[in-house]
Amino acid sequence: MAFTTEERYRAYADWSADYIDTIRNNTQSSPWRTNFHIETPHGLLNDPNGFSYFNGKWTLFYQYFPFGAAHGLKSWVHTESTDLVHFEPTGSMLYPDTPFDSHGAYSGSAMQFDGKLFLFYTGNVRDENWIRHPYQIGALMDTEGRIQKIDQVLIEQPTDTTDHFRDPQIFNFKGNYYTIVGGQNLEQKGIIKLYKAVDNDYLNWEYVGDLNFDNDQTAYMMECPNLVFIEDKPVLLYCPQGLDKAILDYDNIYPNLYKIGQAFDADTAAMVNPGPLEQLDYGFECYATQAFNAPDGRALAVSWLALPDVEYPTDRYDYQGCLSIVKELTIKDGKLYQTPVEAITSLRTDAQVFAEKTETNNVYELDLTVEADSSLGLVLFADAEGHGLKLTIAPANKRIVLDRKDCGEAFALDFGTERQCQIDNQATTANIFIDKSVFEIFINKGEKVFSGRVFPRQDQTGIKVLSGQATGNYYSLDYGRKTN
Ligand code: FRU
Repeated sequence: MAFTTEERYRAYADWSADYIDTIRNNTQSSPWRTNFHIETPHGLLNDPNGFSYFNGKWTLFYQYFPFGAAHGLKSWVHTESTDLVHFEPTGSMLYPDTPFDSHGAYSGSAMQFDGKLFLFYTGNVRDENWIRHPYQIGALMDTEGRIQKIDQVLIEQPTDTTDHFRDPQIFNFKGNYYTIVGGQNLEQKGIIKLYKAVDNDYLNWEYVGDLNFDNDQTAYMMECPNLVFIEDKPVLLYCPQGLDKAILDYDNIYPNLYKIGQAFDADTAAMVNPGPLEQLDYGFECYATQAFNAPDGRALAVSWLALPDVEYPTDRYDYQGCLSIVKELTIKDGKLYQTPVEAITSLRTDAQVFAEKTETNNVYELDLTVEADSSLGLVLFADAEGHGLKLTIAPANKRIVLDRKDCGEAFALDFGTERQCQIDNQATTANIFIDKSVFEIFINKGEKVFSGRVFPRQDQTGIKVLSGQATGNYYSLDYGRKTN
């Protein structure tokens, strides 16, 4: 269903209960509902928001348009977890219901202050001429999940940016609070602005500068910037739109990238000696990754496993998008590693030695090793003929290739059906998480990651070895009862 502008921005209260029941039933009838990934009961999910630790639990919101598979009037849906694996919706929501967020509670972050969770987000407003006004605003959530909006604009649109100015990420650096906000300058180049909380007051922000991270100035907008610290090194994750492929080659409509710096100079808004620009994920879907430093110091990240401006086969079931599993970020030999949080192993219900299978429930993990002089041609979601998601792990050729062209329903064909990356000629491991229509593949314990979606046919449930070999295990996974 194509949504009109009126439908996309219609007030939540003006949608009928019957309509919502109809789309909920349609969504629930989808053959591709996930088992252990967060998705919506109906409607569209996009960015992870407000990922934080609050009141003894992990908090994670997502961007939500409830009324179908479209980008419309966005709110935030609250979920919480005690183990970073089982996230359940609490019923709390951040609604677009004030003059400062009338056209959407857009993305943002969260931090605990004085027993309340401060939600720092972008209020998207359109005036009567449909001109956009972005406001960086806030709300406080108490331990009962009640959300109270702060009735003032915390950061106004700067005079040197266009109306593309959004996605504040609050973080603590050496005892002071800062926020970075993505934007577009008047030359229509993507930039990231740094602000500091005056006297650590989250209501009072002063501009420090445009973040200096060797910005190549080819993108037209930086969405969802995040700065985390890993062993004192700043790691900047962001989504440049329109980045020149000569700077970094990518296949997805927009990439999610990162840079590691040697140090962070908060006074001059600079990442000191930023390293090369790198792909966070080599797969087909990974965007708007949100990362934060947990109270125990770990850098944790979660991604949106879909992309803007792309249609998905689930659209006809009136829903779209899911979140990734939570990944812990570390640096080894100067490289960023992303590993699923340890508690993901609690989903394992049964272990078997890895072998081909004609039938699975498409909810499992593989933990494989391919020797340096060997290679593996593996088909996941395989039918009887061996058609499915084809993964080639070839240390001898120093390559990983992933091809989804024979896996169920085709989509996003404009961006190609194959993704690849380079690896070293050494024994290579792959931790592969399969969840009905999601795959997350962690090569060499998170040195390289391929994430994405496939929409297999009903008979595509097998695991087939096309060539070569690997050793390892197959684990059945089960989340247990899920209440979305
Ligand atoms: C990224 C994004 C953000 C924005 C949000 C709106 O996917 O476009 O920049 O805040 O989604 O839903």
